[in-house]
Amino acid sequence: MKVAIYYFSGTGNTELTVKKWASEAEKNNIQCDLFRFEEITDMKIDISGYDKVGIAYPIHAFNAPRIVLKSAKKIVKSKTIKPFFTIMVSGEYMNLNHSSHLKLMSILKKRNLFLESEYHYLMPYNMIFRHTEKRAFDMFKTMNSLVELDVVDYLVNGKLHRLNKHKWARPIIWTFRIEQVYGPFYGKMLRINKDKCIKCMKCVNSCPLQNIEFKNDKFKFHWQCTLCARCSFNCPTNAFFTGFLQLWKVNGKYKFSEPKEVEIDKHPKYCKKSYIRYYKEAADRLGTEQK
Ligand SMILES: Cc1cc2nc3c(=O)[nH]c(=O)nc-3n(C[C@H](O)[C@H](O)[C@H](O)COP(=O)(O)O)c2cc1C
Ligand code: SF4
Ligand code: SF4
Repeated sequence: MKVAIYYFSGTGNTELTVKKWASEAEKNNIQCDLFRFEEITDMKIDISGYDKVGIAYPIHAFNAPRIVLKSAKKIVKSKTIKPFFTIMVSGEYMNLNHSSHLKLMSILKKRNLFLESEYHYLMPYNMIFRHTEKRAFDMFKTMNSLVELDVVDYLVNGKLHRLNKHKWARPIIWTFRIEQVYGPFYGKMLRINKDKCIKCMKCVNSCPLQNIEFKNDKFKFHWQCTLCARCSFNCPTNAFFTGFLQLWKVNGKYKFSEPKEVEIDKHPKYCKKSYIRYYKEAADRLGTEQK
């Protein structure tokens, strides 16, 4: 079997997840090729050589990021009906998130691709607040264990996985598609604190849509933003001002290793119910003790 996973990742969580899918597939003698949407410069994506196609993305305001929807339109219509699966990565395990692929499904249906199986992994937030390293590492470990199970269940044994949906998902997620409307404004409103900036150009070079330009010793922002948070999250000096979302900005990579020091959790109640549900479902599926 040959599998292709096309993905977008803003701050690296989705990338970690798909890399785990690919390495588990390889362990099970299944070829799994990974493609970053932002690196595909061709106008057409040919999936004819693959038996299954995966689409992976971080959830942005209950939806798939704009860059994913736009790139999915490049997929060439398959001659035969082909299965696809989604890998969603988010900061909350809300049922509303489980329908984030509605628009994607309609785009792919026109290309003869039908949703077969769906997966949702919890990974640490890159918006709203920063998790403790302990919480981030717990999420990372759980994602790894679940992927090991999912790859064997789905790619090896053909067992499908479906997520529970919220009954009002369709109108709610349509209302919250802030990225479609607000993304370009957010990108244009980004500002850099010159006193903090060390001109490392990480933001300029890593923006997936070339929204940040550095010319004549000045930063210029365009209207192309996909709200991925990569620029502000990875800025080594926290020099970004992110407009309306400044209060929600999270800066700095997680270590994804066992923390040596105890850190006080400043948001112990946030999303508590959805996290408990996620860890319970994960423990049931893995046959382990709940966290
Ligand atoms: C603009 C924006 C909107 C987001 N909206 C949601 C959301 O609606 N639900 C959620 O659970 N997480 C949301 N998140 C959190 C991301 O889905 C989460 O941090 C994810 O792990 C990021 O994956 P990445 O590192 O591959 O970009 C949002 C993040 C951003 C930047
Ligand atoms: S990543 Fe931060 S420090 Fe580096 S150039 Fe951009 S704003 Fe300046
Ligand atoms: S400007 Fe920043 S948030 Fe917007 S697409 Fe580029 S890296 Fe992502």
